[in-house]
Amino acid sequence: MDIQDKVIILDFGSQYTQLIARRTRESGVYSEIHPCTITAEELKDLQPSAIILSGGPASVTSSDSPGVDPVIFSWGLPVLGICYGMQLMAHVLGGKVAPSLDREYGRSELFFQDKSPLWDRVADAEKLTVWMSHGDHVLEVPPGFSVTAKTQNIEIAAMADVERRMYALQFHPEVAHTEQGDEILRNFLFHVAGLKSTWTMSSFVDSMLHNLPLQIGDDKVVCGLSGGIDSTVVAVLLNKAIGKNLHCIFVDNGLLRAGEGDEVIGYLREHFDLNLHYIKAQDKFLSRLEGLDDPEQKRKIIGYTFIEVFEEEAKKIPGVKYLAQGTLYPDVIESVSFKGPSAVIKSHHNVGGLPEKMDLALVEPLRELFKDEVRKVAQELGLPDFIVWRHPFPGPGLAIRVIGEITDERLEILRQADKIVQHELMASNWYYKVWQGFAVLLPLKTVGVMGDERTYEHVIALRIVDSIDAMTADWSRIPTEILGRMSNRIINEVKGVNRVVYDISSKPPSTIEWE
Ligand code: XMP
Repeated sequence: MDIQDKVIILDFGSQYTQLIARRTRESGVYSEIHPCTITAEELKDLQPSAIILSGGPASVTSSDSPGVDPVIFSWGLPVLGICYGMQLMAHVLGGKVAPSLDREYGRSELFFQDKSPLWDRVADAEKLTVWMSHGDHVLEVPPGFSVTAKTQNIEIAAMADVERRMYALQFHPEVAHTEQGDEILRNFLFHVAGLKSTWTMSSFVDSMLHNLPLQIGDDKVVCGLSGGIDSTVVAVLLNKAIGKNLHCIFVDNGLLRAGEGDEVIGYLREHFDLNLHYIKAQDKFLSRLEGLDDPEQKRKIIGYTFIEVFEEEAKKIPGVKYLAQGTLYPDVIESVSFKGPSAVIKSHHNVGGLPEKMDLALVEPLRELFKDEVRKVAQELGLPDFIVWRHPFPGPGLAIRVIGEITDERLEILRQADKIVQHELMASNWYYKVWQGFAVLLPLKTVGVMGDERTYEHVIALRIVDSIDAMTADWSRIPTEILGRMSNRIINEVKGVNRVVYDISSKPPSTIEWE
């Protein structure tokens, strides 16, 4: 991508580093996260317009703490240090940092001291509620700096050297609990660094449509379509960029839920002139899963069978050079990377191993984007809400939602129950409020009574969760009438089920899927 202004965020291992990147991008400024182990030359080659030093768990007072080459402070670039980043600036630039055994964690009141461009339109309030998470703090500012804020606990909660455009905050402006945190970050990006707000998803689409044909030329690209938003957006982007040289492969593994894939594929068929290879491989997958109940074994078999089926089909297309994947930015970066760049790359968990095995070069048009940005790209491309806001569906499909052994009968029970869950979520408009909602079939039977008869039948669990990024999640507080309706309908309409339970566990310690 041709980027006008780029903020480089050096990651010292804070759990909030990705949030800093998201906040700058939401303000229309492109940002990238790099491990703090990057050398000064590598950093310079990235041509940053401004640098942000993230927080992190270490203490600058210990000998093995991650550092930064002091030369970067002589480049005349605007620098913002956050939490550990502030302590590091103080340490490197000649101030003093006080070690601490205790961590201050949570809300704090911030009182403004000296004027600072970061406080523009913010300092009208006498004080701000800010989010702190630190052990050490700055005891003495470096030469050239002034103290611009304090809290009830620490005398130096923010410092600035306006002349050299260097700013530092002990609190986290990137977290939602910090009042006016967005405004403070925007003041840094626009007032201090003078950056322009040019990162929009329509400029992203334009530049992809320009660059992808240059990158790919007249070569052919193969792309696995799953029906999920990431692969759909990749396919539509590439379809617009290279037309018929894109070949999409959709594999029906027999583990899809009712309508899964078909709805999206049907839409794409109707609206885009795609080369679509629709592979029916149900028997291959289901016969290999017969008699198995171990979740890891199921996942592995599905993984390598997918690769086998995909590869077989791709080989039939002569002259394929590229494999397109919906890798997203969180797959590329990993926080806590101060131990070295080795921890940085994570392979895609659905098609891991495919590119090496098939000797194909990768095309990953979404690798710079967060999920919310992919949704905006989907909207830019004119895709409908049911694709843009589609719930995630795991690669191994219903195999990890039929707990225990997978049989045709058990898959069919789950499909019918799940269809009711989807329908009731949609009908009540809760589908778009939750992260994910689905049914799980448990490997046990319980006693019930229907009419005057004793029954002994299956149990369905409802799993409906709220989440931002699937890293953490909580069970959705769905109105009880809706849960009641789902339960009644499942028990009345799905033969073989006489009990429905609601999963009220959060992640962690549970996970979203049951297997
Ligand atoms: P867990 O169960 O780990 O799930 O809390 C987090 C999110 O990831 C989805 N998930 C998968 N997605 N392939 C996928 O594409 C997989 O193997 C896989 N396993 C879990 C899950 O649905 C949730 O959104």
